[in-house]
Order: sequence, then C-alpha cells, then structure tokens
Amino acid sequence: MAVPKARILTGDRPTGRLHLGHLAGSLLSRVRLQYDYETYILMADVQALTDHAERPQVVHDAVREVMLDNLAAGLDPQVVTFVLQSAVPEIAELATYYANLVTLARLQRNPTVKEEMKQKGYGANVPVGFLAYPISQAADITAFRASVVPVGEDQIPVLEQTREIVRRFNRLFGHTLVEPEPLLSPVPRLPGIDGSAKMGKTLGNAIFLSDPPQVVRRQVMRMYTDPTRLHATDPGHVEGNVVFTYLDAFDPDREGLARLKEEYRAGGVADVAVKERLAAVLEAVLGPIRERRAQYAAEPDHVINLLREGTARARPLARATADAVIAAMGMRQW
Ligand code: TRP
Repeated sequence: MAVPKARILTGDRPTGRLHLGHLAGSLLSRVRLQYDYETYILMADVQALTDHAERPQVVHDAVREVMLDNLAAGLDPQVVTFVLQSAVPEIAELATYYANLVTLARLQRNPTVKEEMKQKGYGANVPVGFLAYPISQAADITAFRASVVPVGEDQIPVLEQTREIVRRFNRLFGHTLVEPEPLLSPVPRLPGIDGSAKMGKTLGNAIFLSDPPQVVRRQVMRMYTDPTRLHATDPGHVEGNVVFTYLDAFDPDREGLARLKEEYRAGGVADVAVKERLAAVLEAVLGPIRERRAQYAAEPDHVINLLREGTARARPLARATADAVIAAMGMRQW
C-alpha cells in the first residue's frame, strides 16, 4: 500500500513580484521537494494586509504576480495545491483561538518581527495585525496539518512560535495539532545588491525573477564588492563580498568558483570579471524562469483557475482542523 506523503505548507506575502532572495530562501526547496511531499503553497494575502492596510489593491494585484513567480520557478500545477488565504476563513478562526495562547511580550520578543518593525519604522504604532502575524501564520500551517515548512533563515523564529502554540494547545487540550519542522534552505540569506542585510521588494536592492536580462545585468554591475580594493591587482576579500555571496548561492561550477576566489584573493582578477561571471550564472538560472513565466502570463485565466481549484480542494481540510480544535476545547457544545 502506498504510504501517504508528508505534507508541506509554505507561502508568500503578495505585496509585489518575488526576487532572488525568495528563490534561494524557499522557491528552490519547494521545487525540489514537490514530488516527495504533498505540497500546499499559500498566497498569504491576509498577512500581506498587515503592512498594506490602506493598499488592498496592491495585494490583490500581487497575487497574480506571485502565482506567476511560483509557476515560473518550476512548481508543477499537476501536483501542487495553491491556496488563497483570504478564501479560507478557517485560518482566521483558528488564529482567534490561538491568540489566547500567546502573550504580547512573546510577540514583541520575536526577532523577525522586531527586525521587520525596525525596517518599517513602526515603533509603538505597529498595527496589531502585523505584530500578531506569527499567530496567523501558525494557523496557516496547522490548518493544513503540514509537518514540514520550507523557509529561509529569517522565518525560523516565526516557525518557532508556531511550534510553541502547537505544543501549548496539545498539552492543554489533548493531541490535536501537528507540530511542524522547518526545512531550512541550504543557501544562507541573500543580502541586497547594496550589501544591506536583506533583499527587499521595496528597498530598491533586489533582482526580481521577472527582470529582463538587461536589468539583471545592470543590477549586477551596480553590486557592492570589496570597498577596500581600488585596483584589480590589490588582494581582494571574498567574505562579505556580495558578488561572491551570490556566486556561492547560484554557481553550479564549484571548482571554477573556488579557483576564481583564490585568484581574487591574490589580486589577479578585476571586479568586473567576477561580475561578468555572475551575470552569466544568473542568466542561466533566470532564463528558463523568465520563459515559463511568459507562457503562464499568456494564460491569466488558467493561472487564476489553478488558485481557485486549489483553494476549493484545500478548504475542507482547514474546516476539519478548525472543528477538531473547537471540539478539543469543548466549545460549541450547546
Ligand atoms: N511570512 C512569510 C514571509 O514573509 C509568508 C508566509 C505566510 C508563510 N504564511 C506562511 C511562510 C506559512 C511559511 C508558512 O515570507
């Protein structure tokens, strides 16, 4: 008898097109694992509203872009289930119950939330929905009884909160929820092309999966390298050099890359030569993605249908989990 596959849930906030950081952090893992796990991909439009309350139209429009980016990255719509978060009200229902199991202090201590709040300059004026998004994300994951969550490094603390909520719920009310494991991307977090800690959709330091070749090239040529180096004959630093960080993430020729690093350290390679290599490496990665994206973009109704059908298939699962949670707590007995 076939053993049922373990389930993956992961997703994206639709606030704009996805970039190389998403590809390295999560999309490539999704693609690699899609035939080994039952895979659910969430368009987290409700979570996107937590920092876009006044611009719901941006979120609405971005759902299509994020669907295209996922399909372009190589997710196979024959095996993957795409889910629209706002069309699964059970997620909000679960989040309401979970909210009572989490303290304000714990949310404020979450390093990812803290970092994002700083980036957005919220201070005390943080929207409650934003501060509480780890609770709603726990609902995303548990609603579909996912046991594996492929994420980039930045989402590990958010997943840790999910695990805490699950343990607390199960301890209080009996074993009801599945405790998920993170599956960390083999590629460490990609910095922005300006060397800042994170590539961000709105920070002007990203390379988008849908960028045309000349834009990718221009961004590569703008990249920060080694600020201590003035001439190609000066010994160069590889560590902390953005161009090499990207090569580490995407260059399949590991031996060639190791040789290049040695030469660079010895002062034998110009920055522009390293950038040329990166431009070629990125083109090899992005070329097929761009092509698939164009094919799907030519059939917008088909793409939205995939999302509709997936959501319809997934929702009963979320309903069953919400009913199990309600029953475990002994609510709704009258
Ligand atoms: N918070 C994630 C991000 O910003 C997106 C997300 C929403 C997610 N729901 C999820 C990721 C559930 C993993 C699992 O990228």
